[in-house]
Amino acid sequence: MQEHHFKIAYREYAPNELPAEVVTLFQHAKAALKDAYSPYSKFRVACAIRLVNGEIVTGTNQENASYPAGICAEGTALGACASLHPNVGAKELFITIASDAFQVEQIAAPCGICRQQLLEFETRFNTPVSVWLGIEGKPVIRLASVKDLLPLAFTKSDLL
Ligand code: THU
Repeated sequence: MQEHHFKIAYREYAPNELPAEVVTLFQHAKAALKDAYSPYSKFRVACAIRLVNGEIVTGTNQENASYPAGICAEGTALGACASLHPNVGAKELFITIASDAFQVEQIAAPCGICRQQLLEFETRFNTPVSVWLGIEGKPVIRLASVKDLLPLAFTKSDLL
């Protein structure tokens, strides 16, 4: 028997330590929060993606009366990227949240399905995508790659 360990590093930035281009990405994500459609959960999620060509694309969660039919912010953002800028990979993305029901005090990380979708995008273009997670006035977390969010992932190499 052998025991293996994953070593996953992430960085924590004080708000005033964020690089200028990340502040811009955060601003895009925050501005997009108003477009979330979340009458059921009252929970808003926005994802701003900076593509390798410099374009910034945002997406928000879009809920549905048939709850499982709702789409997460990361999924709408990725779909918008692939539709508006076909075949362009991403450099980094910023996910932020807000609630219409309570004061959000801590950042949220992407759900499992979003991790899988984000990983497909990263793998597809073979470029690491930095993942930034933050809310206003709190430390921001940065993972260097989506892979760090999904160890032992199921990917296209399992199928092709
Ligand atoms: N949500 C996202 O948009 N992204 C995630 O990674 C986690 C959850 C949305 C789905 C739903 O509209 C609301 O947050 C509450 O789960």
